[in-house]
Amino acid sequence: MTINSIPTLNIGNLKISPPIIQGGMGVRVSSSNLASAVANTGCVGVIASCGLGEYEDSSVRDAKELTEEAFRQEIRKAKSHTKGIIGVNIMVALTNYDDLVQIAVEENVDMIISGAGLPLSLPHHLNGKDVKLIPIVSSARTLKIICKRWEHHYHKRPDAVVVEGVKAGGHLGYSYQSIIDNSAQTLEQIMAEVIEIANSFEPHIPVIAAGGIFTGQDIARFLRIGASGVQMATRFVCTDECDAHDNFKHAYLNAKEGDLTIINSPVGLPGRVINNKFVESIKQGKTVPFNCRYHCLRTCNPKEAPYCIAKVLSNAARGKLDESFVFAGSNAYRCTEIVPVKVLVEKLTEELASALAKEKLCTK
Ligand SMILES: Cc1cc2nc3c(=O)[nH]c(=O)nc-3n(C[C@H](O)[C@H](O)[C@H](O)COP(=O)(O)O)c2cc1C
Repeated sequence: MTINSIPTLNIGNLKISPPIIQGGMGVRVSSSNLASAVANTGCVGVIASCGLGEYEDSSVRDAKELTEEAFRQEIRKAKSHTKGIIGVNIMVALTNYDDLVQIAVEENVDMIISGAGLPLSLPHHLNGKDVKLIPIVSSARTLKIICKRWEHHYHKRPDAVVVEGVKAGGHLGYSYQSIIDNSAQTLEQIMAEVIEIANSFEPHIPVIAAGGIFTGQDIARFLRIGASGVQMATRFVCTDECDAHDNFKHAYLNAKEGDLTIINSPVGLPGRVINNKFVESIKQGKTVPFNCRYHCLRTCNPKEAPYCIAKVLSNAARGKLDESFVFAGSNAYRCTEIVPVKVLVEKLTEELASALAKEKLCTK
């Protein structure tokens, strides 16, 4: 199957083909190893900035410095292993958000993707550099607010926007209840509204769909409704190069559909995880007392949080699943094998090309 027919995702001067961004996955699930392997396939590899640096065993004083220095090193490492496109994911909810953005700009990453809050001041840190700025939104309203603010204060508009739907992994920008009772808008519905706003700008802002996209056919479906590309995360966990421990990857392979469940995270947002004994115990109100190493999340109150989310997620990445949960998208149960990134991307590309070719035949 020829891949000539596959549209390129253009973000300014960046040409992304196949049009896939690997979603940032914290803590330590998408670091330099995964990101550089993905970038070597023509897609965008993304390093998640949160909780790097194995600071757990360090003193309180230098925990923040350690994680920031580790972030810098991960960017350098990724860039030394690829000539491809490297982005970073920085959550607005992090207390050292500004410092992390500053580091990413200093290290000349290609793009900063930023959600878990409104990245209203993101352009402030650019210093004239050509780093693409890409907010993550869950509604058209949010994009409007960001565009208005960026135009007014920085004469800048987003270089692209990621729309993250309810089927995504990790923390979700929807109410717990709307996810549980299926009343949240679908990704397709939100995409239509966001595309309308994105297309009101000249040139149009590329819109990237995320959440529950698993196959090349899924990618084709979103391109058909006007997406310029997709962001995929869950699918990249079951790869040789994913930075998490093998136990983390095997939790995906062993998961059944009914094991995917929603928790209320101390971050103040719901999150999708794979059920296990730890999840059951925290749902029943179990707490895990902890010393806060540094107040990493604005939205967490360490005095009241039932457990430290950073510590739990770092346990997960280290494979200590008795003391943690594994973040996962709603399709995690469909992962059946661990493959090299190159093999995964080739498969997705073939499926996408074939889906697009079939469509062409049908419209002739
Ligand atoms: C294990 C895991 C960790 C994640 N961590 C983050 C994160 O740190 N920051 C963020 O903005 N999104 C995070 N996400 C969301 C992804 O970047 C992505 O947008 C989403 O999962 C896409 O849906 P999919 O997993 O169904 O492909 C995470 C997702 C997973 C599966």
